Amino acid sequence: MVALWDSFGRVATDLRVSLTDRCNLRCTYCMPVEGLAWLPREETLTDEEVLRLVRIAVTRLGVTEVRLTGGEPTVRPGLVGLVARLVALRPRPQVSMTTNGTSLARLAGALRAAGLERVNVSLDTLRADRYLAITHRDRLADACAGLAAAAAAGLAPVKVNAVLLRDVNDDEAAALLRWCLERGYPLRFIEQMPLDPQHSWDRGVMVTGAEILARLRSEFTLTALPGRGSAPAELFAVDGGPDTVGVIGSVTAPFCAACDRVRLTADGQVRSCLFAREETDLRTPMRAGADDAHLAQLWAAAVRGKRAGHGIDDPAFAQPARPMSAIGG
Ligand code: 5AD
Ligand code: SF4
Repeated sequence: MVALWDSFGRVATDLRVSLTDRCNLRCTYCMPVEGLAWLPREETLTDEEVLRLVRIAVTRLGVTEVRLTGGEPTVRPGLVGLVARLVALRPRPQVSMTTNGTSLARLAGALRAAGLERVNVSLDTLRADRYLAITHRDRLADACAGLAAAAAAGLAPVKVNAVLLRDVNDDEAAALLRWCLERGYPLRFIEQMPLDPQHSWDRGVMVTGAEILARLRSEFTLTALPGRGSAPAELFAVDGGPDTVGVIGSVTAPFCAACDRVRLTADGQVRSCLFAREETDLRTPMRAGADDAHLAQLWAAAVRGKRAGHGIDDPAFAQPARPMSAIGG
């Protein structure tokens, strides 16, 4: 087994697999209203190809966790069957998913039965008018029903991810936390990152982690918990615990130094970082007949070149060409 070491001594064990670049929502920070030029079907990895690459990752490269992302992973046909085949790999990876939740009322039971362990559901607001403004779809009730279905199906934990946008939903931090606490969903706020398709992200406008904490502290007592490890969220006990809330300060408190992630896009490109501007193509050599050992070698080389950090604060920073929806969260 060759681990996925990089030149800074980090080891990638957490593989994020984007199953599609498509989505049924249009969150403003992720995708334009008109959608994007989707990947052509023939460039998207088939189930067989996804399985082959994940098998190489778990048998040869030390990957232990597989998170399914998108776009929106539930729009991929055959998702349940793919999950069942992923958890049948040996060594068995822990399989989780990041989703907008709008399809979970229909799919949570089958996904759990297939072996999915947990989900992160994106939910930025509890107000239908704002949900519509942020996602351009009137699906708040579906997302909430999806969360409830995930919990009922035994997916555990059911986490909620929220992005706060200035003058849109930044007054909802405490309300979101209260709502999640009442339902037992661990909540994490994520600072908005420069991955929007409009390239309109502005550091001065972004709602910072510090600001989110200040807003939460107007209604809750928060106590910082030690031991962030490779987890991106800084965790706080709420009102003395045991409940917690997390803040992912991707921009103001980057966790790059402890990052253990590597990404595979829906068209078979390895990305060592969300913000990488280089990709390593595994699809073309795979389709040209490369053997597992060769693909593993290409993959390891891609991770070896991982940069120290995302460099958002570097004056030379340039946003990656792909927006978030085509990279996977
Ligand atoms: N900045 C921060 N978070 C983002 N997400 C999508 N785009 C961005 C962005 N530009 C979030 C989604 C989802 C997770 C995959 O990442 O809301 O919860
Ligand atoms: Fe879809 Fe997620 Fe992007 Fe929203 S953030 S448009 S739910 S992929």
